[in-house]
Amino acid sequence: MIVLGIETSCDDTAAALFDGRKVLAETVSTQLEHRDWGGVVPEIASRAHLRNILPVVETVLQDSGLRKSDIGAAGVTAGPGLAGALLVGLNFARGLTDSLKIPLIGVNHLQAHAWAAEIEDEPLPLPFIALIVSGGHTSLVKVEDVKSYRVLGQTLDDAAGEVLDKVGRLLGLPYPAGAEIDRIAGDGDPKAVKLPRGMASSGDLNFSFSGLKTAGRLFLEKNPEFTSGQKRVDFIASLQEAVVDSLSAKSVRALENEGIDTLVLGGGVSANSRLRKKFSDLPGIKLRLTPLWWSTDNGAMIANLAYKILHEGQACRGVSTVIPDLSIEEYF
Ligand code: KG4
Ligand code: ZN
Repeated sequence: MIVLGIETSCDDTAAALFDGRKVLAETVSTQLEHRDWGGVVPEIASRAHLRNILPVVETVLQDSGLRKSDIGAAGVTAGPGLAGALLVGLNFARGLTDSLKIPLIGVNHLQAHAWAAEIEDEPLPLPFIALIVSGGHTSLVKVEDVKSYRVLGQTLDDAAGEVLDKVGRLLGLPYPAGAEIDRIAGDGDPKAVKLPRGMASSGDLNFSFSGLKTAGRLFLEKNPEFTSGQKRVDFIASLQEAVVDSLSAKSVRALENEGIDTLVLGGGVSANSRLRKKFSDLPGIKLRLTPLWWSTDNGAMIANLAYKILHEGQACRGVSTVIPDLSIEEYF
């Protein structure tokens, strides 16, 4: 069966066609409109999704050589995300699936990130632990099957990506700054600037990144020479290292506590090359990395989970509305 995946939860309008084994076509339209504002503006996002959604879906149909009538079901992100942005995707998907008389599956965006490492690859061994780390979320989740998710730990304040994006902004990097920080940090000394590892000795699996954000800002205010030249590069490397250290320490503890050896990395920040290297070097862990292009928001991960729900999920209630604050533990 061919499943159409639609993703509009934040600032990417994305669609993909997936047949359960291969992604037949996919496209992402990233909204550059937010760059001047240093963050995603919800109203601008909704309007851009409205403009982009039809062309994006037409593109995947054209690229795959398929017709609308070839689609057997659709999956759409129903949360978490921006309410207006999610509604554009849901309403479009509902119109399409109603007219084609095919099922519509509501997909939890965070759960979709957790399963994205499986796309066009071996099935993930169950149970596994997923570190979902993006611009809005940082969670360690135990996944037992397509319906069972338990949060082991999460950020108590800012998400890891948010810190990179916000401190990056102070250094004049365009939003979102994560990928640029990754690129620049490779030439810097990660030990040059001492920055805090929030909640390192808290004993639990939660994260805190707001202390790092404040410490980074205060450091730059007191030491403006670190806003340019090689010192800037060293500061960026140190900031990235602090984020990577916190994420890896708690992930290792989660695997030990649960007696699980498979760790899945998903979400935009998991595209980070230093994070991937650090985890790859850890002994005794079966690491499943999501390919870079499926780490950030995309339609294939939505189609993939919708396909799984249809084939493994049994009772599926369908989707009637969006839930902007949907938790990763909630299943439609
Ligand atoms: O999953 P995602 O595309 O959207 C959300 O659901 O938030 O993640 C976006 C986040 C942004 O904070 C961005 O700066 C970060 O992922 N990001 C990266 C990299 N690529 C994207 N952070 C670090 N290194 C990267 N290579
Ligand atoms: Zn995401």
